[in-house]
Amino acid sequence: MNPQAATLSHSVVPSEAPPSPAQTSPAALAPATASDSVLQVEGLTVSFDGFRAVDDLSLQVANNELRVIIGPNGAGKTTLLDMICGKTRPTAGRVLFKGQDLTRLAEHQIVRLGVGRKFQTPSVYEELTVSENFEISIPNAHGVLSSLLFKRSDAVRELIRTCAEEVFLADALRQKAGRLSHGQKQWLEMGMLLIQQPDLLLLDEPVAGMSPRERELTSELLQRIARGRSLVVIEHDMDFVKRIAHKVTVLHQGRVLAEGSAQHVQADPRVIDVYLGH
Ligand SMILES: Nc1ncnc2c1ncn2[C@@H]1O[C@H](COP(=O)(O)OP(=O)(O)OP(=O)(O)O)[C@@H](O)[C@H]1O
Ligand SMILES: [Mg+2]
Repeated sequence: MNPQAATLSHSVVPSEAPPSPAQTSPAALAPATASDSVLQVEGLTVSFDGFRAVDDLSLQVANNELRVIIGPNGAGKTTLLDMICGKTRPTAGRVLFKGQDLTRLAEHQIVRLGVGRKFQTPSVYEELTVSENFEISIPNAHGVLSSLLFKRSDAVRELIRTCAEEVFLADALRQKAGRLSHGQKQWLEMGMLLIQQPDLLLLDEPVAGMSPRERELTSELLQRIARGRSLVVIEHDMDFVKRIAHKVTVLHQGRVLAEGSAQHVQADPRVIDVYLGH
């Protein structure tokens, strides 16, 4: 049996009530110092046939920080995440995760170190139930999936149930994933990442295709799960960004154009010029 299955991440089950968004601004929840940064991107560059999609980009994300990355289409946001998770090799620069250089590691090694990635389009196993999707996402589950012991384990069932509740899918465990709404598929994919208990979660447009109510729930979910790990979220919906971001990084033409609180970057004339004014 998977030894990790008996306990669920402290951050999946919050130990205290979340502060009301009305009372506490997201920026006020940001970690006090950047010295405890979990992610350091240094001079990261990638060229595709001479075109620099990401160009000498540096940024740091602190422990328990929820960073949002915004910027116009083609700014290099997805490409940045691709390089952090090892899908794309940088031409120059490096990525440090908890001080360890990820730049030459394979994707599965980076996952094992504790970096989870959600792609722009939800990718769940449509023919499997929600419960089975969670089950196969449990680390080390593959080798023991056939074992009755593993399948019957109360700890595994409890882990799946808790995770399903966390991502609002407790009533959908027996449903085929293919029958979920687009928003529910996004939640399922987030749950499949959370069950792996990553320390850094990279989410590419997690509320795309979600209803206003689903967005509201997701903003609460992301704030909750950021208390125990760091999140980098790419998003276009500025109302959503304002609700969740501790800090916002604005990308433009592969470079950092501005960085700071949502309020700060929204008031920056350069940001309005290339992005928000459109
Ligand atoms: N594998 C690739 N080969 C060639 N060009 C690429 C490749 N991947 C990305 N690009 C180019 O790099 C630039 C940045 O793309 P990227 O997908 O990172 O933008 P983005 O900021 O995520 O945009 P969007 O908001 O539309 O998702 C674009 O001009 C894109 O066409
Ligand atoms: Mg993108």
